[in-house]
Amino acid sequence: MKFVANTYGAFAVPEKNNGRGENSSRRSVIAGIVCCATGGKLSRAQPGTGESFQGLDQLARVKGMKFGSEIRGEELRDQQYCRLVRKDCGIVVAGNELKWQLTEPRPNVMSFEGGNSLLDFSDKNGLKFRGTNLVWNRPENLPKWVNEFDFGRNSGRLAEKIITRHIISECKHYKSVISWDVVNEAIDQDSGAMRETVLSKVLGDELVELCFQIARHAAPDAELVYNDYMSWNLSSTKHRAGVLRLLERLRKHSTPVDALGIQSHIGPRLADGVLGNSVQEDRDWRRFLDDVTGMGYRIVLTELDIRDDYLTAMFESRDQVAADYVKRYLDLTLSYKQVKHVISWGMVDKYSWLKTAAPEHLGQARRPLPYDSSYQAKPIRDAIARALVAAPVR
Ligand code: XIL
Repeated sequence: MKFVANTYGAFAVPEKNNGRGENSSRRSVIAGIVCCATGGKLSRAQPGTGESFQGLDQLARVKGMKFGSEIRGEELRDQQYCRLVRKDCGIVVAGNELKWQLTEPRPNVMSFEGGNSLLDFSDKNGLKFRGTNLVWNRPENLPKWVNEFDFGRNSGRLAEKIITRHIISECKHYKSVISWDVVNEAIDQDSGAMRETVLSKVLGDELVELCFQIARHAAPDAELVYNDYMSWNLSSTKHRAGVLRLLERLRKHSTPVDALGIQSHIGPRLADGVLGNSVQEDRDWRRFLDDVTGMGYRIVLTELDIRDDYLTAMFESRDQVAADYVKRYLDLTLSYKQVKHVISWGMVDKYSWLKTAAPEHLGQARRPLPYDSSYQAKPIRDAIARALVAAPVR
């Protein structure tokens, strides 16, 4: 077993392969997933049939939710992509254009053109607009000039000033954003403690409270979200605990946070060559969702996709295995009526960030999204449709 690091954590891949692109532990893993997902029967979804005729947002709306997707400049220029967004989405989120690195590339020099085009598209098509993110608390995701800033003797004041200017100018510019990821990925996945950045070094953990207070002032009507990638996998135990501690503290300090964003970059993780005990994973996930909702937070699934490239043993039916896994995840998670939006991190495989986030296992092209690279609906789309249909009304 070796661990491969990507931007949202380390994941394990089996080291040995029998030369036919399969290995026995992986086969049992897949069998486990399929069995769990289908109650023993492998259901064969027919993309494009049944519920799939309706747009996904139409199905979500019946249940009091919204369905949407990430969109960024490159995708906006693709008419076929836009057609799918119009068909399936009621909300879009800017993939990159609203991130600090792009909106303020140099101190006090704002650049809103990229985001403006996305907002224009969403307005013209009657779509709601989400913003991600105001402060991404990772050194590699802060603007270079922030990382290199000399905060000098009055460091706290200066840091506060820079953050305030940034959040206010961005929120005031994008007034119609209905939901903001105010702070992204503040918690370290391995320790569960606050991630260290130049900003947290100066302001301490209270950086998070500060960001939300400024955001509430600048965007009084928007939903304010803390967004992170803790998952239902066993390997995410410390990450979940750290996020819960943060959410508790924010409640204690009466910080204006409305919802937890669960990124939902899902994928079965392999531990010791076998699938993590999914019964335990389900139980842990429920406990986590109980704790989050028990504190009064709403939930947004902000970046749904599935990492599927190690399912090579069953290559022909890999899409179905991935779809069953998505369905199982959504069935459990959407059973919580506090989940309001489900947002896919893109619609079409060829644009997925996972194409480049980490090396593809055994060179297998990833197929993480509802539509393949020829814009054809895949079983994942059908799984999302069926999960929306099965979800309780909220
Ligand atoms: C990703 C984008 O999709 C990529 O285009 C970019 O290069 C890096 O960021 N978690 C998040 C998202 O919060 O903002 C990330 O988006 C994916 C992981």
